[in-house]
Amino acid sequence: MTKRFHGRTALVTGAASGIGAATARMLALEGAAVFCADRNQQGTEAVVHEIRERLGSAETALLDVTDEAGWIALFARIRDSHGRLDILVNSAGISMAAATSDMEYSSWRQVLAVNLDGVFLGTKHAIRAMRDGGGSIVNVSSASGLKAAPGAAAYSASKAAVCMFGKAVAKECAGSGIPIRVNTVCPAGVKTPMWSSMPFFKDLVASLGSEDAAYLSLSESAPGSRFSEPEEIARAILFLASDEAAQITGLDLVIDGGYTL
Ligand code: NAI
Repeated sequence: MTKRFHGRTALVTGAASGIGAATARMLALEGAAVFCADRNQQGTEAVVHEIRERLGSAETALLDVTDEAGWIALFARIRDSHGRLDILVNSAGISMAAATSDMEYSSWRQVLAVNLDGVFLGTKHAIRAMRDGGGSIVNVSSASGLKAAPGAAAYSASKAAVCMFGKAVAKECAGSGIPIRVNTVCPAGVKTPMWSSMPFFKDLVASLGSEDAAYLSLSESAPGSRFSEPEEIARAILFLASDEAAQITGLDLVIDGGYTL
């Protein structure tokens, strides 16, 4: 296998689970030293252990992405141990299903804080860390940032904001001669624990008998489309993070089997 990321240092948030974990595994397999950041310590340690056992180099970083002091400390740790950062993947995120008229303001704030403020804070400090040597930032938005998701307006709004934030920062960097690319992936449904934590999904699994049956039934509302595996999203993230995408910045890369068409 080609080691596209040999000698590179990467930081992945949301690395304890789902898309972040798949991305961390693949980056390590392709030669990167990967900092796996998440607020879930046990989950992150399990992923780091697995990477070290059979894939490559990884370190655990306990991080709440809404905590700027935590980001500052983590970037200082990376600078001290590895000299520089080449890749940031902002995958940490939360979803919350609620009718807008029933949603608590605190829940709205929580979704925006993790999904949008977290991406802002990571990007801000990554630019400071990468601005001399260059680098690549990949943010994980969602098809729900492009196509309205009724019953998840806060989530949809946060993800739409992530797309436009990425474009604005990409243009800002390109226009100022800062050699940092900023791109966004927009997956539709992906088979991850994000779904199993949602009450309506648990009910669906209980009534249909398995998670696979629940994923299938949700896909049926979008003909031709199916739920993605986390690795299918990770592969697109690695492409955007790699030198193969050297001329690509400010992109929303939709990964949805045609769902948003
Ligand atoms: P997941 O629930 O499997 O993983 C999310 C991770 O983020 C968890 O490990 C969680 O501990 C971490 N996290 C949550 N809040 C955090 C915080 N404040 N600080 C640090 N870590 C935090 O979910 P999944 O599916 O892997 O989600 C990854 C990204 O993909 C999210 O941004 C999500 O919105 C996005 N996405 C997911 C889709 C899906 O169908 N699963 C579809 C489209 C986008």
